[in-house]
Amino acid sequence: MKKFSVVIAGGGSTFTPGIVMMMLDNLERFPLKTLKLYDNDGDRQGILGEALEILLKEQAPDIEFLYTTDPETAFSEVDFCMAHIRVGKYAMREKDEKVPLRHGVFGQETCGPGGIAYGMRSITGMLEIIDYMEKYSPDCWMLNYSNPAAIVAEACRVLRPDSKVLNICDMPVGTLRRMSQIVGKKPEELEVRYFGLNHFGWWTSVKDREGHEYIEQIRDYVSEHGYLTQIEVDTQHTDPSWQETHKKAKDILAVTPEYLPNTYLKYYLYPDYVFEHMKDHPEFTRANEVMEGREKHVFDHARQIIENGSAEGIAFDIDAHATFIVDLARAIAFNTHERMVMIVENNGAIANFPDDAMVEVPCIVGTDGPEALAQGQIPAFQQALMFQQVTVEKLVVEAYVENSYQKMWQALTLSKTVPSAQVAKELLDDLISENGDAWPELH
Ligand code: NAD
Ligand code: LMR
Repeated sequence: MKKFSVVIAGGGSTFTPGIVMMMLDNLERFPLKTLKLYDNDGDRQGILGEALEILLKEQAPDIEFLYTTDPETAFSEVDFCMAHIRVGKYAMREKDEKVPLRHGVFGQETCGPGGIAYGMRSITGMLEIIDYMEKYSPDCWMLNYSNPAAIVAEACRVLRPDSKVLNICDMPVGTLRRMSQIVGKKPEELEVRYFGLNHFGWWTSVKDREGHEYIEQIRDYVSEHGYLTQIEVDTQHTDPSWQETHKKAKDILAVTPEYLPNTYLKYYLYPDYVFEHMKDHPEFTRANEVMEGREKHVFDHARQIIENGSAEGIAFDIDAHATFIVDLARAIAFNTHERMVMIVENNGAIANFPDDAMVEVPCIVGTDGPEALAQGQIPAFQQALMFQQVTVEKLVVEAYVENSYQKMWQALTLSKTVPSAQVAKELLDDLISENGDAWPELH
């Protein structure tokens, strides 16, 4: 079988070790010739890079490994770029979450004003790595799961329409793993129908390969427990704040009982509840939870490996739920026609929704990329919510392209999470001053 060369962009990410371990666990399905890490923060990446170099020498010495901040070294002769950058890192995530609280609005990584602020920063970083990839390895595919995926995907559609960038999110994957637990199946035995935007969608069907429909059984469960399950199958979403979110799915379901909701809808359907929760402990948001948890855990492990000069007995955890990234790479490389929920241009997949909207729907993925499966007509309630939200996302990208203060103000005003144009303006001025040069200048 062909061996592949992969660069991970955002090599200093808290997810890098888990994904590398997952790839080592999947070498039979996806053999590696070269693995490179690329980041624009050499110090941060250096810690993970040094530890992984030691680990790979011990566990997979045949794989050529390097870590670098030099784009040419990183992006030359690669088949796939797995991209998980966080422009502004945790310091800015914390601001995205905390600045809106000053204005009576919740702050979150991808939803509402926090997501809009992060989107404005991410576009520049994403364009930069896409351009490096195309310059040094024109045939390479980017498997992107950098957030905020909805705004990033819209920016790619507008600014790099011909680039080989595939946008995918792990939330539908994680929740499907919970559903499989609820019905006593393996995740790979289930096939779904789903429609929406990224972090803004609904499952309309969950069937096994024999065609048995589980949606009612799952609905009964979720209406009582949300997506909380006894055994943790969705290992990426386990912290206390996530348990709250899984539980809250029960109230999201109550609004649209016919379909199973994506957990992120809590931010749009219950923004007041989220704000009330956050304002009780405004100093400790999700960013703090990750910095004290996953980030500390991963970097402590890496330092320990470096200190010992060996990874023996201090293995990094395998990010089992991230096998979808290998499934996606294999779909492209081997034309497997894997069925995956992805973020793609609508072009009729949702019949009563604009063609040029970036939507999240099941796709068949092969050598030429994803082909969206038609999901038909959607109800007016979801259609209206989605139209409002997709317009916010489009306005952010337009504001970025045109350096338009007005469009950014409109984006924040239109967001279902912001109560008025006045609050939106005050928030915007605060976000502009907190983001400084990380945002394009708006006038
Ligand atoms: P992190 O801050 O630990 O890592 C991100 C890395 O990206 C940092 O090392 C940073 O230096 C680097 N970076 C920032 N801008 C860069 C640029 N322009 N070029 C190269 N490197 C750059 O963050 P994390 O918590 O590990 O998350 C990484 C990303 O993965 C985030 O965007 C997060 O939202 C995303 N994520 C996506 C999913 C999904 O399924 N869509 C799930 C979880 C996390
Ligand atoms: C993370 O940091 O894990 C996120 O990207 C998603 C979350 O858990 O808030």
